[in-house]
Amino acid sequence: MAQRGARVLLADLDSDAVEKAASDLRAKGLTAQSVSLDLTNPGEYPALEKAVEQHFSGRVDVLVNNAGGWRFSTFDEISMQEWEWMFRTNTTSMFLATQAVKPMIPENGTGRIVNVASGAAHQPRTIMPHYAASKAAVVSLSRSYALELAARNILVNAVSPGPIATETLKADSNQEELNKLKQAIPLGRAGEPEDIAEVILFLASRRNRFMTGQTLVVNGGMFMI
Ligand SMILES: NC(=O)c1ccc[n+]([C@@H]2O[C@H](COP(=O)([O-])OP(=O)(O)OC[C@H]3O[C@@H](n4cnc5c(N)ncnc54)[C@H](O)[C@@H]3O)[C@@H](O)[C@H]2O)c1
Repeated sequence: MAQRGARVLLADLDSDAVEKAASDLRAKGLTAQSVSLDLTNPGEYPALEKAVEQHFSGRVDVLVNNAGGWRFSTFDEISMQEWEWMFRTNTTSMFLATQAVKPMIPENGTGRIVNVASGAAHQPRTIMPHYAASKAAVVSLSRSYALELAARNILVNAVSPGPIATETLKADSNQEELNKLKQAIPLGRAGEPEDIAEVILFLASRRNRFMTGQTLVVNGGMFMI
């Protein structure tokens, strides 16, 4: 988004990583700021509001809810603590961020919200039922927000990525698992972050004029709905 001219504010729990990501963009001549907060903690949102006020005079055109996380556990392995962490990280963070940012979005037709769900929301996997449910909630919340915010001319959609070779996925999977994944994808490769970024960019742009409340599944054909 920064490469296509957006002025971006990156928000993440990991203060060093988020500032490095922003400074890498600035080094390329792009406009990027960072703020560090726990998106699951309502008490930390004043930091986000302050950063938006400081850098963008309180206005946000596009919100991308991308923060999230997963654990590989079967039903019988899931502790109460892990269950609650999963829903806080994937679902509560998206709810709180949207509640905080929606008053900052103008009603002039530029407003877009894009939520990152997961293929797991549509296809069950025995090793991550809690993750799948927390991402199915993201799909559902996207529809409810689309309905609510249509009156304010704000379009809300979700993207459900298949396996994407991010650092976290590579760290969580061994080579054998990655090869298995590849074989399950008709396009013959895991996705790259840019494959998802392009779809988010479309949904966030004015080129998306009439799509709201939808979820685009981007998975190299791994399953089709
Ligand atoms: N990589 C995949 O294969 C894949 C597939 C489907 C969906 N997704 C989804 O895409 C999104 C990005 O995944 P990724 O692979 O880039 O993972 P990632 O771990 O690299 O990125 C997730 C980011 O969220 C941040 N985060 C987690 N909890 C937070 C909190 N409470 N407050 C603020 N920030 C927090 C982390 O610090 C991290 O920077 C996630 O929502 C993930 O569920 C990923």
